[in-house]
Amino acid sequence: MKSVRDTPIPLAVGGEFLARVRDISERIRIEGRGLWSRNGVKGVSIRGERLKRDGRKEWRQWDPRSSKLGAGILRANIEPETLVPAPGDTCLYLGAGHGTTISHLHDHLCGSKNHLGGAIIAVDLSPRCIRDLIRLSERRPGLIPILADARNESLISPFLNSKVPWLFQDVSQAWQVELFIASCNRFLEPGGTGILSLKAASERRISGGDMAQFDHAESSIQKAGFELIERINLAGWEDQHVLFHIRL
Ligand SMILES: C[S@@+](CC[C@H](N)C(=O)[O-])C[C@H]1O[C@@H](n2cnc3c(N)ncnc32)[C@H](O)[C@@H]1O
Repeated sequence: MKSVRDTPIPLAVGGEFLARVRDISERIRIEGRGLWSRNGVKGVSIRGERLKRDGRKEWRQWDPRSSKLGAGILRANIEPETLVPAPGDTCLYLGAGHGTTISHLHDHLCGSKNHLGGAIIAVDLSPRCIRDLIRLSERRPGLIPILADARNESLISPFLNSKVPWLFQDVSQAWQVELFIASCNRFLEPGGTGILSLKAASERRISGGDMAQFDHAESSIQKAGFELIERINLAGWEDQHVLFHIRL
């Protein structure tokens, strides 16, 4: 039997074209070439992204050019469904930025008023980012912004009762791989999903250009004993970036 997500469903969008739909989850949808999350705060667009009504649901466009997780979902060869946590999970996000990706993750993980009971521990060392995240969290319960340097585990652990099933890191600084390995070992539960967004331009310790940086990261991840599920090149949407999708 065909699974629902593999079944192409012709859909009229604004009467303009027929698109294929693939549901990554109940709240994340690929439609044609576009990625959408079901808006947890109806009528509110975070950075001017398109909103679209579909009966009682509202979908918010998720731009792969400003979200590495979004780009990864669209680019992954292996089951993109496995890139996202289960609704209601508690997740750790290192390098939260201004909350662009986190808002979509929240749509999926927590839903409107956090009726799904999820939690996103969102860490960033920039006070400006944390200010934006605090504003975002006022309408998105379950989002917990933490002003901290991700390299200092002792600042993060008080916010976690136990290890998490999903950890995402996007810190664009040197020693990203080492930080990712240490964070997964400290905070990710056995069998949990870890995703490292690696920006080659932030790592200049290895000679030989971007590919050498990515190869070095891959061998470090394997030496750490993590199972590498997929290395996803984001070129075209996020140049010089690769996502490493691992299982602990
Ligand atoms: C590329 S931005 C993150 C974008 C965000 N992930 C998104 O998709 O919306 C990288 C962020 O990492 C943060 N950062 C850099 N080094 C960090 C560290 N050691 N600990 C915590 N955050 C860090 C920066 O302040 C910046 O906001």
